Amino acid sequence: MITKIISIPDINIQQTEIVLQQAGVVLREGGLVVFPTETVYGLGGNALDKDAAAKIYSAKGRPSDNPLIVHVARPEDAELYAYTGELYYQLARAFMPGPLTVIMPVKQAIPRTVTAGLDTVAIRCPAHPVAHALLICAGVPIAAPSANLSGSPSPTCARHVIDDMNGRVDMILDGGDSAIGVESTIVKIEDDDTLTLLRPGGITVEMLREITPHVRIADAVLGVLPEGATVLSPCMKYRHYSPKAALYLVDGRPEQVARYAVERESKTAIICYEENLAFYTDYFGADRCFSIGNRDDEYTQAHRLFTLLREIDKLQFDEIYAPLPKTDGIGMALYNRMIRAAAHHIIHF
Ligand code: TXA
Ligand code: MG
Repeated sequence: MITKIISIPDINIQQTEIVLQQAGVVLREGGLVVFPTETVYGLGGNALDKDAAAKIYSAKGRPSDNPLIVHVARPEDAELYAYTGELYYQLARAFMPGPLTVIMPVKQAIPRTVTAGLDTVAIRCPAHPVAHALLICAGVPIAAPSANLSGSPSPTCARHVIDDMNGRVDMILDGGDSAIGVESTIVKIEDDDTLTLLRPGGITVEMLREITPHVRIADAVLGVLPEGATVLSPCMKYRHYSPKAALYLVDGRPEQVARYAVERESKTAIICYEENLAFYTDYFGADRCFSIGNRDDEYTQAHRLFTLLREIDKLQFDEIYAPLPKTDGIGMALYNRMIRAAAHHIIHF
């Protein structure tokens, strides 16, 4: 398949309108279009078309028991696809459009291939102007997982998408860098006032608790982390977001980490806070050390994570050492992605 790659420099020009109309036709006719969102790029197909969902699973190499998020142009469009309620609208008023996905009981219109046979559906209303305009032009809801090959880091720019998806989809819309850089927060509505957090993201637990105090964090979000050195959680079904090199999260002072890593015989890369970059560079050389941002700037860290993992992969390291993130604010999203990328390998010094 030849993939059309189209750059969208400006949402407000006539050329963009024409491109998005074409992309809308591709979607309505059962094709696949990759599009930018404020979190990560999405691999989209018509959410009302069971065959489009099957194509998504196949393009991504994803097991078909892992359901897709249904994207809508406006929060109230969810009415057609899910049994909503007051709590949904409270969340929608506060956080939509934006990086929040809400799981609710599914209505008949959504094929079972999209929900992987579950009786619930995940609904998200993205804030990115290209995603919004594409939803309007398509006139159908868009089922979209992140546009990476299954198992690799989610794409946060068109370059990442092209690396994974060129030749596998009809069209890629390049809308520049994703602002947030980690996937949406996912919550499940349990009853009138209770939410379960299934995946942390740009909408933090603290923000959700302002809507309802009853937010339960699913056990798998932070993993079960026994005391000790390298631990591997048994509760993981899939290894996620994984770089090709073995990633270790380190909880210790830079001197401890450097002394440990320098002894290893493998080709080692270091991910570190900006403040420690000069220190590590002295040990390992500039071409092996990568800053993820300032220690207290978790937004930049989240934004850089997936790009760094992909860049480091291209340089073919055997091992990567990275600091164990904190778990408050958007740090929880970072922590959640990093323990998965590291397959729960954590070294405490
Ligand atoms: O930011 C995002 O959410 C991006 C952009 C493209 O919108 N999408 C994304 O999709 O990250 P994906 O498929 O990579 O991750 C969605 C997660 C999957 O782990 C899936 O298992 C879960 O949402 N999910 C979807 N529907 C579900 C449901 N009904 N119940 C439980 N989990 C569900
Ligand atoms: Mg994904």
